[in-house]
Amino acid sequence: MSNKEAWGSRIGLILAMAGNAVGLGNFLRFPVQAIQNGGGAFMIPYLVCFLLMGIPLLWVEWSMGRFGGKFGHHSTPFILDTMDKRKFWKYIGVFGIFTNIAVAAYYCYLESWTLSYVYHSVIRTFSGQTQDQVAGFFGSYVGLESPVEPIFFWILCLVLNTWILSRGLSGGVEKVAKIGMPLLIIFGLFLAFMAITMKAGDHGAINAGTVGLNFLWTPDFSTIWTPKVWLAAAGQIFFTLSVGMGSIQCYASYVKSKDDIALNAMSAGWMNEFVEVVLGSAIIIPIAVGYLGIENVVEMTKNGGLGLGFKTLPYLFEQWGPMLAVISGVAWFGLLFFAGITSSLAMGTPVMGFLQDEFGWKREKSAWTFGGVVLLLGLPTVLFFNYGVFDEYDYWAGTVSLVVFALLEIILFSWVFGINKGWKEITDGADIKVPSIFKFIIKYITPLLLGWVFIASLPNIWSKITHDAIKKQILAATDPVVIEQLHTQMLYVNISRIGLILVWVGIAYLVYVAYKKRMKEKRFTS
Ligand code: ALA
Repeated sequence: MSNKEAWGSRIGLILAMAGNAVGLGNFLRFPVQAIQNGGGAFMIPYLVCFLLMGIPLLWVEWSMGRFGGKFGHHSTPFILDTMDKRKFWKYIGVFGIFTNIAVAAYYCYLESWTLSYVYHSVIRTFSGQTQDQVAGFFGSYVGLESPVEPIFFWILCLVLNTWILSRGLSGGVEKVAKIGMPLLIIFGLFLAFMAITMKAGDHGAINAGTVGLNFLWTPDFSTIWTPKVWLAAAGQIFFTLSVGMGSIQCYASYVKSKDDIALNAMSAGWMNEFVEVVLGSAIIIPIAVGYLGIENVVEMTKNGGLGLGFKTLPYLFEQWGPMLAVISGVAWFGLLFFAGITSSLAMGTPVMGFLQDEFGWKREKSAWTFGGVVLLLGLPTVLFFNYGVFDEYDYWAGTVSLVVFALLEIILFSWVFGINKGWKEITDGADIKVPSIFKFIIKYITPLLLGWVFIASLPNIWSKITHDAIKKQILAATDPVVIEQLHTQMLYVNISRIGLILVWVGIAYLVYVAYKKRMKEKRFTS
C-alpha cells in the first residue's frame, strides 16, 4: 500500500481541520444568510442546528474516519464499507468523493477572485472609483469581459492547491494551516475592530458600525417558526462545518487509532463557530450597513449576495484613505484567500486518498489528477458564470448532496453499525468526557432532524429540477433577446447537471473497479 500519509502534530491536525471548516462560507455566506433570513431571527435556529446536528455529526464523522483508517481506508466508499457487510454502502460513500470534487470545481474559482482582489488592492485599482464603478468591475470580472485575468488567477489558484496537495499532509496541508489560520484570525480581528469602532460621520459613514451588529443580533421571534429559516440555518451549519462532505472522515482517517477525536473535533468545530459567529458577523455587515444603510444592504442580498464582499468593501475601504485602503483590502481578501485555500485543500484529500489506497498511485500523481479533474469540471462555472452554472453546482453539490450524505451516514452509524459500537468509537481515547445525552441525540434527534430537513427541502428540490424560477422569468419577459438568453441558461444548467451526474457515476464505477480488484487480490476491506 502506497498511502503512508500522517499528521505531523496534534496542533497541525486541529488547525487543518479548523481550516477545512473555516472558509468562504464563514465570511461571505453566513452574513448573507443571516440577513436574508431576518438577522436576529436566524441565529436561534442556527445555534440549535449547531448543537443538535453540527456537533453530533462532527463526532460521527471524526470517529468514522478514525475507524476506517484502522483498516487503511482514507475515503468514504471503503470507510462506509467496513461498517456494514451490505455491499451498497460503498456506493453511498461515493457522495463523499463526489461532493468534494464538485464543490472544489466552483469553490476554487471563487477563491481565485480573492487572490486577484489582493492584487488589485495593492495596485489601488479602486482608488477614486464610485460605488457603481467598483460593483461594475466585479460584474465585468465574472462576466469575463477581459477573460485573461480571471482565467490566469483561477489557474494559478488551482496550481497552488495542487502543488500544496502534492507535498502531502504534514509537508503541505498542515504547513499552510499553521501559517494561514493565525494570519486569518489576525486579519479578521483587525477588520472587526475597524468595523465596530466606526462612527457615524467618520469618513462619510452614515451609521456607526454597531448599527449593523445590532441588526444581526437583535432577536426577532416573528419568523422563528418559518421552515425556510430553519432550512437556511441547517444548510449553513452543514456548509460551514464541512459535514456531509467526506473531507472530515478523510482527515480523521490519518489519526492514530489510540488518539483522541472527541476533544479534537470540538476544538476544530468551536474554532469554526468563533470565526463565523464573531468575526463573520463583525466585518462585512457593520461596514456595509455603516455606509449604505440596512435597507440597501438587505436589497443587495436579495439575489444571492455572494458578491457583496467584492462589490462594496473595496469602495468602502477607499473611504478610509489610501494607506488604510491598501491594508484593509489586503487583510480582507487575504483573509478570504486563507479561509478558502485551507478548505479547498481538504476537498482534494479524499480523492487522493482513494486513488492512493485503491490504485497504488503516488501522492503527486493523485494530486495532479485531482487538479486536472477540477480544472475540467470547473471550466463551465468560469465560462458560464452568468448563466447560473456556478450556482447550480453550489445547489446540488454544496447544499443537497451534503444533506443526503449526512442523513445516510447517520443512519448507518446509529442504526446499522449501532449506536453502542459508535459511542465506543467516539469515546475511545477521548480527552474529554463526552456528555452522555449525545448518545441519545445521535441516535434519535440528529437523524430525525436531518430527515425533516431533507423532506422539507423536497418541494424546493423539485422546483429546481423543473426550472420553476427560470420558467417564471420567461413568462414575465417580453424582450425576445432576454427570452432567448433564459432558454440558453436553462440549456447550460441542464448540461451542467448531466456533467455532475456523470461525475458521480464515474466515481461509482471506479469504486466498483476498486472493489473487484480487491476481491481478486484478496485484500478484504475489514
Ligand atoms: N466549510 C467551508 C466553508 O465554510 C467549505 O467555506
